[in-house]
Amino acid sequence: MLFHFVQGQDDNNNSQDTFMAGKVQINIDGKILECPIIVGTEGDKAFDIAKLRAQTGFITMDPGFGNTGSCKSAITYLDGEKGFLRYRGIPIEQLAEKSTFIETSYLLIYGKLPNQKELDAFSEAFNEHSTIHEDMKNLFDAYPSSAHPMASLSAMVCSMSAYYPELIKENPTKEEIDRIAVQLLSKVRTICAFSHKKSIGEAFVYPRHDLRYVPNFLNMMFSSPTKPYKIVDEVVRAMQVLLILHADHEQNCSTSTVRLVGSSHANLYASISAGICALWGPLHGGANQAVIEMLEDIQKDGGDVKKYIAKAKDENGRYRLMGFGHRVYKNFDPRAKIIKQCADELLNKLGIHDPLLDLAKRMEEAALKDEYFITRKLYPNVDFYSGIIYRTIGIPLNMFPVMFAIGRMPGWIAHWKEMIEDPTTKIGRPFQIYIGAPKTDYVPIEKRT
Ligand code: ACO
Repeated sequence: MLFHFVQGQDDNNNSQDTFMAGKVQINIDGKILECPIIVGTEGDKAFDIAKLRAQTGFITMDPGFGNTGSCKSAITYLDGEKGFLRYRGIPIEQLAEKSTFIETSYLLIYGKLPNQKELDAFSEAFNEHSTIHEDMKNLFDAYPSSAHPMASLSAMVCSMSAYYPELIKENPTKEEIDRIAVQLLSKVRTICAFSHKKSIGEAFVYPRHDLRYVPNFLNMMFSSPTKPYKIVDEVVRAMQVLLILHADHEQNCSTSTVRLVGSSHANLYASISAGICALWGPLHGGANQAVIEMLEDIQKDGGDVKKYIAKAKDENGRYRLMGFGHRVYKNFDPRAKIIKQCADELLNKLGIHDPLLDLAKRMEEAALKDEYFITRKLYPNVDFYSGIIYRTIGIPLNMFPVMFAIGRMPGWIAHWKEMIEDPTTKIGRPFQIYIGAPKTDYVPIEKRT
């Protein structure tokens, strides 16, 4: 098999967001397949193998999809070598400093920053949809108080399709998608706060129209009929920053799950519920919980970070330093950099000293000097320092992945919307290379050994 690159502009290019720069010729036993080269607005290159199987009988093999583009997307761009991340073209550093989670959600879903009127209408819709159906509260009783909140969150989000069936259509209108989007963004924080209250045996605290998104969530989480919650600006800002930084990350495991499930025309609630399950895993969003558990274990064991770095090296991947490494970032994760600074600032302002933050910094320092981590380009990722902030705010450990899910909601919605509105979308259905038994006849039970 030969690959041959043919330079040149393709005249058939009509797309405004990509252009074609020549083609790759694949020569399989003298049969030539021409694959157009697609180039994105930032210069990313791919060759299109859509006709490969039909014309040659071959498929490509790419476990973990490390070389596979599943779609064209205009939502988020990241460069893993240079270590930057942009939502709709805007660097996350600027959004973290100047924007709010609601504004960033609008940006991701609708493709532009809202004007004042659009922002006001969007925020108002959050108030309108902040409560959950009263009957849904019964669902919380069905879970043991020890249940992991990601289990109830995914179930509740999927259950919303049962409580709001009028919005479940195979071809929803733009207005119906807008309504589900705002419902999900607003109600998810109520569901999460209620699940926390249930787990500690306290009464649910309802959302308030006079509070904005983050203070409203914190109030539902931490106030009680006997004890009001004092809203601290620094805490609100730190949480805004975390939510903004988690809002999207292009075709990661959970977002790809949302798109794959949605490609069968499953409704938005069901698709996002599947994304929540994908996020839960410790190699993805569950890592923020796993990082703190790991740091606590190391602390209990005397705080010797080098011992754990050696363990990660000796066991070559079977023991991993949680919060380290990333499929795309081979330089620093820009989110981790902002979160580390945010953790420092928050703890300083509140006058809190968390020994786990010191331990995390020592771990980072030691790992970044170690040959194993250097050669594999393993840097702290978004989950390494975020848990320190959640701890400081008072969020319980098993709710850390839930906080990630609240943050990722606008990204999931934006991708589902982009996918469903794209007329070229097809149902996601990869192939395989079968390695099982050849044709085998059925053996009656009395003749089996
Ligand atoms: N600790 C120790 N070694 C590691 C780590 C780690 N955290 N991460 C990767 N490695 C090693 C692997 O053993 C492998 O070594 P080898 O080349 O000798 O076999 C090499 O680095 C490459 O690792 P892969 O598993 O091939 O990298 P991949 O891109 O598939 O995985 C992942 C990325 C899942 C994030 C991985 O780095 C990991 O498990 N990290 C820890 C969990 C974590 O923090 N997840 C959160 C990621 S961010 C997010 O999803 C929001």
